[in-house]
Amino acid sequence: MVDVILGLQWGDEGKGKIVDYFAKDYKVIARFQGGPNAGHTLYVKDKKIVLHQIPSGVFHEGVINLVGNGVVLDPVVLKKECALVSGFGVDLKKNLFISERTHLILPTHRALDKAAELSKGNEKIGSTLKGIGPAYMDKTGRNGLRVGDLLDKNFTSNYIRLRLKHQKLLDNFSFNEDISAWEDEFFEAVELLKQLNIVNGEYFINNKLQEGKRVLAEGAQGSMLDIDFGTFPFVTSSSTITAGVCNGLGIAPQKIKEVIGVTKAYCTRVGAGPFPTELDNETGEQLRQTGSEFGATTGRPRRCGWIDLVALRFACMINGVTQLVMTKADVLDAFKELQVCTLYKINGKESREVPFQMTRVNIEPQYKSFPGWNISTSAAKSGSELPEAMKNYINFINKNFFYSIA
Ligand code: IMO
Ligand code: MG
Repeated sequence: MVDVILGLQWGDEGKGKIVDYFAKDYKVIARFQGGPNAGHTLYVKDKKIVLHQIPSGVFHEGVINLVGNGVVLDPVVLKKECALVSGFGVDLKKNLFISERTHLILPTHRALDKAAELSKGNEKIGSTLKGIGPAYMDKTGRNGLRVGDLLDKNFTSNYIRLRLKHQKLLDNFSFNEDISAWEDEFFEAVELLKQLNIVNGEYFINNKLQEGKRVLAEGAQGSMLDIDFGTFPFVTSSSTITAGVCNGLGIAPQKIKEVIGVTKAYCTRVGAGPFPTELDNETGEQLRQTGSEFGATTGRPRRCGWIDLVALRFACMINGVTQLVMTKADVLDAFKELQVCTLYKINGKESREVPFQMTRVNIEPQYKSFPGWNISTSAAKSGSELPEAMKNYINFINKNFFYSIA
């Protein structure tokens, strides 16, 4: 069977760490969407590592890591990451596999991402500028190049043809930065990529399943950044939810068993877009500092706020979450009082639902207040060691994450 670990908020919920924690119980860890916009932080031998393209199970011996067809792959980022991971003695020939259907991020995709964001002025999405949106546009627009195409003798001419198309778009944006250094890097990195294990991902993973091997699908970003159900247009360009596992790996829905949703004990968002429980004040700053809330991919300060149960229930409903993991609750150790958003008032009316367009309505989050615990819990190893006030806080969320019409 396939279990899934994914983020329920706006990304950065701590998915990488949770995948790393559970990885030893699985034979295959597979990324099913997103690209180097992800920043999954792990600690290996006390060293901090941020993975962008390679699945978070890569440091476990005997665990196979698959980059699925739903991912967009930047060979340059991958090359750097391979060097980093190999430095820890990991044999990537043995445990990294890449689907031939995975779409490539080209240097011009990065340029287009930058040009498009610049042209948006105040309406910027706050993209990581890794070329994600343009690469997925070329996928759905039926122009993109895939990893399997690298092995074709016509790759360079196909590349040049697509590059010319991109150049016309860049000219429209009046974007004229010299990207020739990016292209040199790209073609060097492609040589490394060609030497890795390029496989037919859908047979690869279904064969593992038939052999009875356990598969863990690792999500990137979060449900509120999903292309369909997130806070559009302030979203990423892929299907970040459980449904994305099926088309991002070639797995049938009946194969999916546990859906482990990861949420922080509070909320963060990096980049622009609606965030009803945001605290643009000292409390938000305290969350940012205590939780080291700075982007793992871009270093940007993350926006911080209280946990939002309306958004969380929505995400749990859409994903079919069966288990909830809460991370970073110890960041709340020093707060005297905590708030949990249980309802929205939308244009003055109470609602339990995430509205179609959060930016077009006035959302006033309704809070339930909880006393803080004011002692350090970072060293606690089991639930019984936690202070009563913390257990209350966790239990309340645990009882309220399922959406129901009542
Ligand atoms: P992980 O996997 C948090 C955000 C960007 C921006 C929007 C669109 O580490 O949780 P994109 O580069 O995808 O075009 O950016 O999505 N974003 C993330 N925020 N964590 C991530 O990944 C993110 N990946 C993209 O900040 O607002
Ligand atoms: Mg991250």
